[in-house]
Amino acid sequence: MNKLLALSIGSISLIAGKLKIMGGINYFRKHQQITLNDKTILITGGTDGIGWETAKKLSKAKSVIVAGRNVERIKSQLFNYTNIQYMYLDLNDLNNVQQFCQEFKKRHEKLDILINNAGVFNLELKYTQQGFEQNFGVNYLSPFLLTYNLLDHIPNEYESRIIFVASRAHTDSPSQVDFNYYLNQEPIPYSCHKIYAISKLANIYETSSFANHLKDTNIKVYTLHPGVVRTHMLSQFKFNKFFTPMIWYFTKTPEQGSVTSTFLATQPNNQLKNGYYYKDCYPKYLKSDNNILFDNTIKVLQKLGYIK
Ligand SMILES: NC(=O)c1ccc[n+]([C@@H]2O[C@H](COP(=O)([O-])OP(=O)(O)OC[C@H]3O[C@@H](n4cnc5c(N)ncnc54)[C@H](OP(=O)(O)O)[C@@H]3O)[C@@H](O)[C@H]2O)c1
Repeated sequence: MNKLLALSIGSISLIAGKLKIMGGINYFRKHQQITLNDKTILITGGTDGIGWETAKKLSKAKSVIVAGRNVERIKSQLFNYTNIQYMYLDLNDLNNVQQFCQEFKKRHEKLDILINNAGVFNLELKYTQQGFEQNFGVNYLSPFLLTYNLLDHIPNEYESRIIFVASRAHTDSPSQVDFNYYLNQEPIPYSCHKIYAISKLANIYETSSFANHLKDTNIKVYTLHPGVVRTHMLSQFKFNKFFTPMIWYFTKTPEQGSVTSTFLATQPNNQLKNGYYYKDCYPKYLKSDNNILFDNTIKVLQKLGYIK
């Protein structure tokens, strides 16, 4: 009898644990939604993983533009989603980000919802076209330029918003981060994991800074952790097959990983907390560096001639 009781308690705990990892109650809850059929939505990194799942969920919008370098992965599926279009974007190159913004403005009269989702987790040191460390360049600097350049295309309306997909990994950053190593292209004294963590901390700081920059408008800004998700990003870590059941247990599917991005894109702005970091659809905190990174980034992008 005791064994049966222990087995039942063990099984229930395992199921409850898995449900929590999948996103808890918010994964199953039906959330209130803003009207999407008049909205234009841009999702960077919409060609794979969490971004593509987010695009499919938002496909009731007037148009969803998925941007990335490789459309091949989703090409055949685009026929099933007539509202989803593809645009080429390479965040590894600030020149391409500039061209992309110009082209986007020509093709679309406005941008209601911008989801900065694209990201890399490099296992070795690599550099962008302009010589910035690549995690920092692709995850932070290029999305910053893209967002800044598109601000004048985002209408000052009640449901306009910008979302940055960050990561819980930001908590693994060193306690004091000197972003000037990255901005000034100095040798970086950190491991790959730390570099990724720092790029995600930069996403969180830019969220509060853009929120502050836009405080006199109706445009809101949010950031989030999608969970640990079984996408290409995770599969580059070669785990021993022995761990496969554990990896399954402790991770989300890409569809589950897209829930918080979709939630932040579709909840009425007046029910969300501006500048906040969300996890499993809950606001966790607002983290700010008093706009130091924001101001220094503007200076570097001005010096390089990317912004006036
Ligand atoms: N998976 C996780 O466990 C996890 C956990 C926390 C946070 N995140 C964050 O979630 C976001 C999405 O990650 P994911 O797991 O869905 O990864 P993924 O499956 O590897 O997808 C990454 C996306 O980013 C795009 N991308 C990469 N480099 C790019 C570049 N130079 N220019 C333009 N697009 C580029 C890729 O598109 P192309 O290849 O077509 O360029 C792809 O669509 C990332 O910001 C990541 O940091 C993921």
